[in-house]
Amino acid sequence: MEFNDPPLSQQIRKILASQWLGHTIHFYSQVDSTNLTALELAQRGAPEGTVVLADRQLRGRGRGNHLWHSPAGVGIYCSIVLRPKVVAAKAQLVTLMTGVAVAKAVSLKTGLSPRIKWPNDIFVNDKKVAGILLESKATKTVVEYAVIGIGINVNHTLTDLPEQLLVTASSLRMELGQTIERDGLIAQLFIEIESLYDRLQREDSAVILEQWRSYSATLGARVRLVQKDKLLQGIAVDITDEGALLLKTDRDGLLVVHAGEVEHLRISADD
Ligand code: BTN
Repeated sequence: MEFNDPPLSQQIRKILASQWLGHTIHFYSQVDSTNLTALELAQRGAPEGTVVLADRQLRGRGRGNHLWHSPAGVGIYCSIVLRPKVVAAKAQLVTLMTGVAVAKAVSLKTGLSPRIKWPNDIFVNDKKVAGILLESKATKTVVEYAVIGIGINVNHTLTDLPEQLLVTASSLRMELGQTIERDGLIAQLFIEIESLYDRLQREDSAVILEQWRSYSATLGARVRLVQKDKLLQGIAVDITDEGALLLKTDRDGLLVVHAGEVEHLRISADD
């Protein structure tokens, strides 16, 4: 179903200031998953920067086969087709870059202080307010296309989130105490993604890594994570140039942990 919400779709077109990102936007009032739609478009040759936006998702996809709760009228559910030139081993940098872009846009538009939990969960006041899901078609060496899916809990109130999620999740509105204009946040997000992605395409990822570190809630913290049925515990020391986590484990010394291998990561003050 085509998106038919002039306040959002027409408004975005009016205020869009990005150079190439979002020049084609497919709006839907509801869709199963914007990522799924964007993957189909990418497969059919959609150019880089094509965007799919929905007001509601029926089967929003989260990481690790979780569903992303996507009620109508309150969230941002957005997927972007990219054709990154990075080698497949560095595809993780696309998600890190997106995390930085979301954190920057949220900070600029709300004044809140978002932090990123590795690899790319966005937290405000220790509650998750946004998530990113990268899905791609890649060989062992090159990425043919990538879709970055961004879900932001923007104007959700207590009744818009399932009770069991309220322990760990929140919305920008709940943390700020006032509603936020989704169109302005989306336009800012596109500007931030565009500028960081252009750097990535020029193989200039140092700034992305630096900015990611500055928003990180993970580095320096004691963490526990589950990797292929194995529990790892230690201190998150740094991220590598490829965006993997460098973990100083209690038992096995320094380990490089890749996001794709991790089921979940918890930051813990103690054991
Ligand atoms: C996570 O689990 O943290 C990632 C959530 C990603 C959700 C977004 S919403 C827009 C896009 N379409 C989807 O189906 N998922 C992503």
